[in-house]
Amino acid sequence: MKFIHSLTIGSVTLPNNLVLAPMAGITDSPFRVLCLQGGAGLVCAEMVSAHALHYGNAKSGRMLQVSPKEHPVSMQIFGSDEQTIEEAARQAQATGADIIDLNAGCPVKKINKAGAGCVLMKDEKKLARLLTAAVKSVTVPVTLKTRIALNHKEFLGARLAKLAEDCGAAAVALHARAAVDMHSGEPNIDALAQACAAVKIPVIGNGGVTDFARAKQFLEAGCAGVMIGRGAVGNPFIFQDIIDSFSGQIPQGLTPKKRLGVYLKLIEENVAYYGERVGINRSRKTAGYWISGFPNAAAVRGEFVRLDMLRQVRTLLLQAQQML
Ligand SMILES: Cc1cc2nc3c(=O)[nH]c(=O)nc-3n(C[C@H](O)[C@H](O)[C@H](O)COP(=O)(O)O)c2cc1C
Repeated sequence: MKFIHSLTIGSVTLPNNLVLAPMAGITDSPFRVLCLQGGAGLVCAEMVSAHALHYGNAKSGRMLQVSPKEHPVSMQIFGSDEQTIEEAARQAQATGADIIDLNAGCPVKKINKAGAGCVLMKDEKKLARLLTAAVKSVTVPVTLKTRIALNHKEFLGARLAKLAEDCGAAAVALHARAAVDMHSGEPNIDALAQACAAVKIPVIGNGGVTDFARAKQFLEAGCAGVMIGRGAVGNPFIFQDIIDSFSGQIPQGLTPKKRLGVYLKLIEENVAYYGERVGINRSRKTAGYWISGFPNAAAVRGEFVRLDMLRQVRTLLLQAQQML
């Protein structure tokens, strides 16, 4: 069995089947570029509100921007009515998305109250209408990201994967946790396997993949690809490490010292992309993933949150690096 291989999603062929998950506040353009350098076969952008795009929200519009360095990229949209989903999908295609993904798995209350995210799992007719609308409005492939279940009583993964296939989606990304579990707990591999067996389109398994062993379990269960979220934050080379492990090589891994260097590079990219204040502010949110694994990491993080200039951040991280 060949575990790592190119993966065809509609008209797009990915160089490999390891995918960066969409994460709001994290998988922006600078981080996506870093993960492609780290071996990802596809990178997914943070979810963008179709409703906000409809009303010309500048921040949401900017989130659709794709840099030439970040292909293949999937742009994720969320929404609750066909017209805005169609418009958003078209806009995402126009700004350079290679793939468009519809979110039907987000458990955040604010999103669910607006009729989007995982509540769509309860209303299959509406989900089918939205997905079909997206598929019909663009020429790039459309995918669905959803979950195996809403709760622990009923598994929906196989049904929803079939729904996606019937609506013309080119792949489905399936988070192997119930919506009630948010983002924690063990992934349910059996539920993933059921979904994989139900459809011909690729199923990309997601949830709790932080190493080669878990990725292998997903692929053995029948997943065509593996989607990695938090495992890539603080370790954007996880994709290459997993590829190396499958080919019998010893993965390079990231020492805390090297991790600090990669983080500093990312912060510099964030500052170049967003400007100093916003760039540093955004970088701070993931500091716990990056400044870790050494004795005085908590103290360095404590110092970092007080800094708002790149010059100061550079000095702090270089000093911390020198002590390792
Ligand atoms: C901070 C954060 C933001 C997220 N934002 C999104 C999002 O915008 N769209 C989405 O479909 N899933 C989102 N997710 C869910 C991830 O894509 C993924 O399904 C989840 O983290 C499980 O994968 P993991 O265990 O590998 O992290 C988010 C998760 C986290 C932790």
